[in-house]
Amino acid sequence: MTTDGNDSRAVEILENAVKTYSYKGLEYTALRGINLTIERGKFYSIMGPSGSGKSTLLHILGLLDTPTSGRVVYKSVEAGRMKDRDLSAVRGREIGFVFQSYNLIPRMTAMKNMLMAMSFGNKIPQQDRKERGQSLLSTVGMGDKSEKLVSQLSGGEQQRVAIARAMANDPSLIVADEPTGNLDSENARIIMDLFTGVRGEERTIIVATHNPDVAKYADINITIRDGKLAEESQ
Ligand SMILES: Nc1ncnc2c1ncn2[C@@H]1O[C@H](COP(=O)(O)OP(=O)(O)OP(=O)(O)O)[C@@H](O)[C@H]1O
Ligand SMILES: [Mg+2]
Repeated sequence: MTTDGNDSRAVEILENAVKTYSYKGLEYTALRGINLTIERGKFYSIMGPSGSGKSTLLHILGLLDTPTSGRVVYKSVEAGRMKDRDLSAVRGREIGFVFQSYNLIPRMTAMKNMLMAMSFGNKIPQQDRKERGQSLLSTVGMGDKSEKLVSQLSGGEQQRVAIARAMANDPSLIVADEPTGNLDSENARIIMDLFTGVRGEERTIIVATHNPDVAKYADINITIRDGKLAEESQ
């Protein structure tokens, strides 16, 4: 079951990943054979036109979805062979995902969303959770709105809560889908500084973005077109 264990810098490897969506008898292939090695501690940007497959690729890298064919190797273990229980433990404890559409729980407060994530990850000691939630919300400029319902927050505010939530369990892999799509340039800078600040030897960051200014923060820029990797530059 252990593969590619010789490449200790690799946190995740995709081998010929293909993703075909089927809906009402129609098929659409969103990823057409992606080979990609994600190295520990690096900051990646993924750029490409709308519909090119960025979100699809991020969902697979974040272990939220599986490819139709091909392999995903996460920390030397093939994801397709992991038990559902183990997969969700890895997602909860190790991976922080910022969804393009935030996926917060609207009827709960920002803080409650943070606490839910920490309860799901079950990694941060119970007595530290509230303080950690407040501190992360403050980092994204949402400290004074932690008790507001998500449904009462603006799009950019929700986006910042979603980013704080992704950090809740101190993940070693942060996967963020257009994390600054709804932010002004000042808040976008704060978020990118936050990501670069928490990035380290052990923490890997992958960001999909349409914004070249955001991509400038990355060590490695990947471009995807029509479901294929077009180029990778360092
Ligand atoms: N659940 C689905 N069922 C069918 N087709 C889908 C589904 N999700 C995505 N697609 C299609 O797959 C392609 C890639 O979608 P994806 O969301 O990955 O693109 P993207 O690069 O993230 O685009 P954007 O920049 O607009 O967010 C698109 O053509 C989209 O219509
Ligand atoms: Mg997308």
